[in-house]
Amino acid sequence: MRILIAGACGMLGRDLVEVLSEGQELYLLDVERFPPSLSSQFSTLTLDITDSEKTYREVTKINPDIVIHVAAYTDVDGSETNRDLAFRANALGTRNIALACQRFDTALLYISTDFVFDGEKGEPYVEFDRPEPQSIYAKSKYWGELYIESLLNRFYIVRSSWLFGKSGKNFVTTILNLAKEKKKLEVVTDQIGSPTYTKDLARAIAQLIGARGKDFSTGASVYGIWHITNSGQCSWYEFAAQILQDSDVHLKPITSEELDRPARRPKFSVLDNYIWRLQGWKPLRHWKEALKDYLKEIGEQ
Ligand SMILES: NC(=O)c1ccc[n+]([C@@H]2O[C@H](COP(=O)([O-])OP(=O)(O)OC[C@H]3O[C@@H](n4cnc5c(N)ncnc54)[C@H](OP(=O)(O)O)[C@@H]3O)[C@@H](O)[C@H]2O)c1
Repeated sequence: MRILIAGACGMLGRDLVEVLSEGQELYLLDVERFPPSLSSQFSTLTLDITDSEKTYREVTKINPDIVIHVAAYTDVDGSETNRDLAFRANALGTRNIALACQRFDTALLYISTDFVFDGEKGEPYVEFDRPEPQSIYAKSKYWGELYIESLLNRFYIVRSSWLFGKSGKNFVTTILNLAKEKKKLEVVTDQIGSPTYTKDLARAIAQLIGARGKDFSTGASVYGIWHITNSGQCSWYEFAAQILQDSDVHLKPITSEELDRPARRPKFSVLDNYIWRLQGWKPLRHWKEALKDYLKEIGEQ
């Protein structure tokens, strides 16, 4: 299978490269220049997906079997002030990739977010629930979904949440770094979600697209919207407590109102991996188990 990964230098992108590198022909795309560890092993393309003409030209030239699109402007609070940047990258950039896929009916897998929901449902969201994005970032990601749905037949929209992985700044590394400087940390208790390890998500994506032993051409039965996260749920406060369980740092619970971040975030955005379960597939492991492996991977345990 010829796979193009857009956003290959990012946190999820790097794990996708690792998981998919065996037995697949990989092409890597990112706006950044590639580190030699990637450019020496794979075909790479430095490209800004907001450039519609170049994206169309280069992606159709590669003519992959599938594009896995994880490139995004991911600064949730920054999107409130850099509105154009968010919509250009996340909505129009995704449209540009979808238009290139349209030419040869190439399948597209897009990563979206739990933030497309408003968080008011009070129970886990299934794929059939209606999105109601509240922030600029969430709206821009949702518009990426809408472009894909209107332009393509063969697509997967994979919504995930609260990602942590070895190749990017994330909540776990932020908490670990703060704990090295401070004896007391304030963490929000009134936002609930499901932390997800990028390595587990990358493996699940490989399973979804049939890159692991199944015939890719039969993938048609699993196109559509998917919620994929590690199992279990927690607040940011509980997540921080688990990260710091062996430390003497004092954690103080606070509310979102007290933290006063620029972007509104959903209070409860747990994603029920409903279609995954209906498909009869084994749920992803609990986030606490995944966290333990991640802490080992980064040498913190
Ligand atoms: N992180 C989370 O908690 C979370 C939760 C749910 C869903 N998601 C989604 O999951 C995906 C991966 O997230 P992540 O945390 O791995 O993100 P990330 O580490 O920020 O990776 C995104 C990559 O895309 C690149 N990129 C940004 N703008 C681009 C452009 N215009 N053209 C080409 N490449 C561009 C980035 O380069 P630069 O670094 O140079 O900008 C970066 O290498 C994103 O679609 C995100 O919306 C993330």
